[in-house]
Order: sequence, then structure tokens, then C-alpha cells
Amino acid sequence: MRRRSVLAAAGAGAAALLVGGTRAEAATLSSTASAKAAAVSGGDVPWASASLRSLADRVGLRIGSALYPQDIETASWAAIAGSQFSVVTPANGMKWQIVEPAQGTYDWSQADELVNFAHKNNQLIRGHCLIWHNQLPTWLTTGVANGSITKAQLMDLAHQHITTEVSRYKGKIWQWDVCNEFFTDSNPSQLDPNNWWIVNAGPEIIPNAFKWAHAADPNALLFFNDYNIGGEDGTNAKFNAVYSYVQQLLSAGVPIHGVGIQGHLDTQYGWSPTPLRQDMEKFASLGLKVAITEADVRTFVNNPTAQVPTDNLALFAHPYEYEEMLKAALAVPECISFTVWGWTDANSWVPGSFSGEGYADIYDVNQQPKAAYYALQSELGLASNGAPYRVKSYTPRS
Ligand code: G3I
Repeated sequence: MRRRSVLAAAGAGAAALLVGGTRAEAATLSSTASAKAAAVSGGDVPWASASLRSLADRVGLRIGSALYPQDIETASWAAIAGSQFSVVTPANGMKWQIVEPAQGTYDWSQADELVNFAHKNNQLIRGHCLIWHNQLPTWLTTGVANGSITKAQLMDLAHQHITTEVSRYKGKIWQWDVCNEFFTDSNPSQLDPNNWWIVNAGPEIIPNAFKWAHAADPNALLFFNDYNIGGEDGTNAKFNAVYSYVQQLLSAGVPIHGVGIQGHLDTQYGWSPTPLRQDMEKFASLGLKVAITEADVRTFVNNPTAQVPTDNLALFAHPYEYEEMLKAALAVPECISFTVWGWTDANSWVPGSFSGEGYADIYDVNQQPKAAYYALQSELGLASNGAPYRVKSYTPRS
């Protein structure tokens, strides 16, 4: 892997003002950049050829990626997926639509392929995701729509689905995303009354899902996972709603162990890292683990194939936003993993979902590491060489 001056990585911080940071933040970043420059001599860094996972291991953080079958089945891709990451998430392979395409007929091939890959590469697994309104099997959505599956039967089917899947992989999954994306993006935010599960099964589906998953694998860490809950919306409205809700779950004795902050950013909106860190600290103050579960940073590009950013400022904002998300993760000891949602632009959900956007990942369309990769490597290199990032910045709990 080519070597890179730490100065280049630190320069990404200069984008703070350009992407919505305050002057004070820019000043802090600029002094951070100087400190980094002083930390090495000669322009090269001692961790220049170290993998992300080897550096992250040294500071007690798991670094991960979502994986698609292509990541495992293409030898050159698998070499990167296996060597850079210490935790992997099936991008689609454990979703209900994939594992039970016809009622009672299971297809575990994608999920098993990922579990075997992870085992071979000494990686942990984030199971994703048990209850979500999206990627449900057609037999289920059709049955509910035409009334052949009643509310009570839907709850039974969800119970059966969770028990079957979690039991199958019992002891092999580190963290399960039990419930995914249940809150509105409005201000104030709330449990979405139009969510497919809330409409058809009722809000009890959420505590029930956690209880069923816990019964099937008592050692798995059970997460609630959502987007816009790390201050991305500028108001923290969704964070506030999720925070109150998980507090209620905990008070009711529901076995929830963590909150997953997805971390899908877009350079066009501007972003400040401070709320992300504060929100993670607040979740941690409830006694929960936290994780960044789906980090990526999209921007406008020339076309979906080459994915060259059309705005030069994005070239600064992209690595800066990755780097700052990782720094927040490093600063909160209860944050146990930092996962990118796919590692290469060659296989990204972004161009298909956001017209005109792409360049969201840390490797380019030719599987070459981008500035964002080196920004993450640099932060992990500094942290693993003693930079005081992984410290408590709030009053310890009793
Ligand atoms: O496998 C079929 C293929 O046979 C077919 O030819 C093709 C035609 O469109 O579709 C393929 O399925 C696609 C599937 O990804 C596998 O690539 C679906 O259309 C496509 O909708 C699906 O998108 C997934 C998306 O969730 C669905 O909402 C993305 O891969 C996946 O990365 C994305 O992941 C979600 C997380 O689970 C939750 N958080 C947001 C995140 C990004 O949307």
C-alpha cells in the first residue's frame, strides 16, 4: 500500500468551515493538524502499511464493513474485505426477504457464506436486521395486505422468524440489529405511526422482538439501529425521541444493550461532529453500548460509473467527515465498533438510491484506497500510538 504523509490526512480538517463547522471547530482542527504534523518526522507515518483492523485492535475498537456477496466471491475484493476489517455485517443476506423467500422455505446461503467468511478471517459479525419495514418477503406483505395474515398471526410470525434466525446463528453473532428505523424525521420526532410494523403489529413489536432475540441467544448484544440520531438533522429531534424511547425500554426491563447510529452523511448538508460525540455519550450514560453501524459520505458525482465528485470541496469534506465520525467513536469508550456501509464505490447502494450522487465509500470504483481510507488509517494510527482520543470526557457513572 502506498505511503502517505500525515500532513495530507490532517489537511482534511481544513474543510470544517466549508462543511458547516464553526470557526472554533476549525481552529481546533487546525491545531490538531499541527499536532499530527509534529508527531512524525520525514513525512511518512509508522502505520503507513498497517491495516485498519490491526490499528483499531490496539485501541479496543472493531472496524467493520457491510459486505455483499461480491465482496466475498471476488478474490481480490475478498482479500481487502478480509484483511482490513475485524467485524462484518451482511448488507442484505440476513434480511427476512432473503432468508425466507417463500413461507416456511428458508435460504441461508448468503448468510452462511458471510458467517463462514468471517470465521475464516477471524472477524466478528453484526447481524442485520431482524425487524425492519423494508426488504420483507412478498408473501408476508401480501398476506397482511389482503387480511389472510391477522395482527396476532403477524406477531407469531415475527416471533418465529426471530427465534429461527437467531437460534441458527447462536453464539456466532456479536451484535444483532434487532429493530431498524422506527422513528420519524420530523421535529419533534416520534415512533412512526405509519411504520409498517407499527400499523400492522402495533408498537409492542419492538420490546417483543428484543425479548425473543434475547431468549434465542442470551449472549448476543442487542441493538436498536437508526439514521439521523447522531445530530445529522441539525436539531437532534430524532436523537431525543430515540433516547427517551430506549430509556423507557430499559425501565421496562427490555433486554436492549446498544444503539446503532447509522452515520449516512451527505456533503451537501454540512455537518458538525460535536453532536455525534455528545449523543453517543448520552446513550452510553444509560449503560448502553453504542456503535457507528453504516458510515458513508455521499456527494454529487459526474456519473454513477466513474463517480468523480463534481464539487472540489467535496474532496475535502469527504475524508473530513469520515475522520470526524471515527474520532467521535474513539472518544467514547462505550463505542465498540465503527462500520462502513460497503467499502468500495464499485458496489455501493448510493448511486441507485440518490440520483446524481456517489463517491460514498473509502475505496474508489477501482478498489483503490481514497483519502478517506488514509484519514481513518491516520486517526487509528495516532490513537494506537498513544494519542489521547479514547478517554472519558464526562463524569463516570457510579
Ligand atoms: O438481488 C436483486 C437482483 O436479483 C435484482 O436483479 C436487482 C434489480 O434491482 O435487485 C437486487 O436486489 C437489490 C438488493 O439491494 C441487493 O443488491 C434491491 O433491488 C435493492 O433494493 C437492495 O438495496 C439494499 C437496501 O438496503 C434496501 O433498502 C442495499 O443493497 C443495502 O445496502 C441497503 O442497506 C440499508 C440498511 O439495511 C439499513 N439502513 C440503510 C441502508 C442503505 O439503504
